[in-house]
Amino acid sequence: MTTSAQQFVTPLTFQALSGHPVHTALFDAAQEQAMGHIHLARWADLLLIAPASANTLAKMANGLADDLLSTLYLASECPVYVAPAMNQAMWHKAATQDNMRRLQQHNVSVIGPAIGQQACGEQGFGRMSEPADICQHLLADHKPKPMQGIKLLISAGPTREPLDPVRYITNRSSGKMGYAIATAAKQAGALVTLVSGPVNIPEPAEVNIVKVETADQMYSAVMQRAEQHDIYIGAAAVADYRPAVLQDHKIKKQHDHSVIELTKNPDIIGSVASLPSKPFVVGFAAETNDLENYAILKLQTKNLDIIAANWVGQTEGGFDSERNALQVFWPDGNKQFAMTDKSTLAQQLLSLITEKFHEKNPAKNS
Ligand code: C5P
Repeated sequence: MTTSAQQFVTPLTFQALSGHPVHTALFDAAQEQAMGHIHLARWADLLLIAPASANTLAKMANGLADDLLSTLYLASECPVYVAPAMNQAMWHKAATQDNMRRLQQHNVSVIGPAIGQQACGEQGFGRMSEPADICQHLLADHKPKPMQGIKLLISAGPTREPLDPVRYITNRSSGKMGYAIATAAKQAGALVTLVSGPVNIPEPAEVNIVKVETADQMYSAVMQRAEQHDIYIGAAAVADYRPAVLQDHKIKKQHDHSVIELTKNPDIIGSVASLPSKPFVVGFAAETNDLENYAILKLQTKNLDIIAANWVGQTEGGFDSERNALQVFWPDGNKQFAMTDKSTLAQQLLSLITEKFHEKNPAKNS
């Protein structure tokens, strides 16, 4: 507690109510080396300053250390959070806002402030966030990361198979499901490489993105990297065929009928699943009919660990939709995921993948 804090609540009250010791002095004669601040700084897993006054924030932003709290902040190496609390005019003052920007540059996380009725009777930004909201924020930031240390390779989006310099064959994939999986995997702690066909959606943050256009390019990009990854998820809608001949010039219209000869593209996921040091392989199956039989057949013929199947061409879900539902199969089981937004679905699918991956690779658990 700072000297100011002690004007509001006495250390004795704080200690009695919390059931924990309260520290107030920079130099603590009761400590062996009288260096209370260093001991506390080493001990803490996380430092939360709540409420953080404009004065404390200003001292922190400028490296001043003239009491226990500011010295503790300077000496700490753990994550630091502040929950500012002050009059709305003090919060909006340029000096305070400069200090906040500076603190964020110094990796201090800011929770709040909230808007509402203030102790001084004014209304506005500056109220300390509710303690329950502060706790929720901290817990969300420090929740266990189930994919920590796992290297995930994912392919997403459509491929484009050129006919001539201006035309190509493609499909309706938006890339949304694959991108949602890449984002969720990153948040779960995985190191993510995303091999992406041409899409019109924002790139996920902190993910290594390799952009490709054709199935052949996607094949090379994936095969080069697959054995260095723990899990490969083939969420791309790869064109099964490409034009046999790529014309140098724009094809001219001549006859009433025209035939384009097609050549089969390589099966990327099947090739990954045949590698000597293959990763854990997860495929997708978009079906318009007989979903379960086709999905199980693909699981077996492509030698996959898991296949996630979804209906396409229905009223809701599938290509370009914000929502989807999945029926997931693995060699000795299956699970249904009900229609929901693609980001929730991605998280649900990833926890199943992580569970099955760990069952198959118990060593990676440690
Ligand atoms: O056989 P089908 O194309 O329906 O299989 C879908 C699964 O196979 C998806 O995981 C897709 O990414 C993958 N696939 C592939 N290479 C292809 C065709 C499909 O990796 N040429």
